[in-house]
Amino acid sequence: MSDYTTIHQPVLLRDCVRLVTPALREPGAVVVDCTLGLAGHATAFLAASPQARLIGIDRDEEALAMACDRMRSEGFDSRFTPVHAAFDDFESVLAGLRLSTVAAVFMDLGLSSLQIDEKDRGFSYSHDAPLDMRMDTGQSLTAERILAEYSPDRLTRIFRSYGEERFSRRIATEIVRRRQTEPLRTSRQLDELVDAVVPHSHRPAGNPAKRVFQALRIEVNGELDKLARTLPQIANHLSIGGRLVVESYHSLEDKTVKAFMNQGLTSDVPAGLPVIPPDSRPFFSPLTRGAIKADAAEIEKNARSASVRLRGVELSRGIPERWRRRFERDSREPDARADTRRGFNASNSTDHTL
Ligand SMILES: C[S@@+](CC[C@H](N)C(=O)[O-])C[C@H]1O[C@@H](n2cnc3c(N)ncnc32)[C@H](O)[C@@H]1O
Repeated sequence: MSDYTTIHQPVLLRDCVRLVTPALREPGAVVVDCTLGLAGHATAFLAASPQARLIGIDRDEEALAMACDRMRSEGFDSRFTPVHAAFDDFESVLAGLRLSTVAAVFMDLGLSSLQIDEKDRGFSYSHDAPLDMRMDTGQSLTAERILAEYSPDRLTRIFRSYGEERFSRRIATEIVRRRQTEPLRTSRQLDELVDAVVPHSHRPAGNPAKRVFQALRIEVNGELDKLARTLPQIANHLSIGGRLVVESYHSLEDKTVKAFMNQGLTSDVPAGLPVIPPDSRPFFSPLTRGAIKADAAEIEKNARSASVRLRGVELSRGIPERWRRRFERDSREPDARADTRRGFNASNSTDHTL
């Protein structure tokens, strides 16, 4: 068996266990880890909650196979159900397992270190590889296809919204010019193209292509749309007292999580109303004040933790019917890929990943 603890270090592990496991005290309580990865968090939840069962979802089959191996070797396999799916299939995953509610749901968004370090998947500018970037290798959209097919406007929007890249337009224009004579197939080609476009006087710290790679990865995998569709499904399937705990690494992810949680943390009545009708009272209670961040010691040991924002809520009462219906609608929102999403624009995204 590999030593999985050296491949990927789970971020804010103690805080996550502290926030998730109080919901798992009942015998047979179910926690869903929507981003199982190498099961670093998942094994810690099971170790801390001997009565609980865990459903682990991941869209990456390789990660799933490693997680299964780890669960077996740590003796948790009888309490563990692996599921190969994207987490926006949350509802159908539960239906397939004949579950209507669960006690806790955890998400640790983004890529695992395994994926970042894998040289042949094109996630990273530091290795020359085909421009693939799919977390689920069964889907057809790849980074190469985006670079070959998207219009200059659409490419510009992606680089600007998801990467906060100042030179989005120039980079998009150069991609379109270059692809007329030579297809962009490898991460080195893209890295060199960005390097040639971004003026030396305006470079951020690190590799100038970092933001473009991040933006492409978010687009290839539809990460923000999937997240926005998943959170309402989760809320509608939490039992009362159930907990939702999410770690984000990109400002737009964190904004999505925060805005979603705020809907249930505040009363939905006009300000100044003397009495809040019971049905309008908040249905979430906060588990975190603002977002928890990693401290300097963790950042030193694990650079990936530098951008983490951890938030959690508990479902304090049944979700009012009108919110349930709204969450159902929100979970069916079409995939907007690169279209400007509610309340988001280039100026409010921050580069948190890779
Ligand atoms: C940061 S890693 C999780 C690491 C894990 N917490 C651990 O400690 O080992 C994120 C994982 O989520 C998976 N993932 C990302 N987006 C997903 C999605 N939309 N649906 C399912 N899995 C997803 C990735 O494939 C990756 O394995």
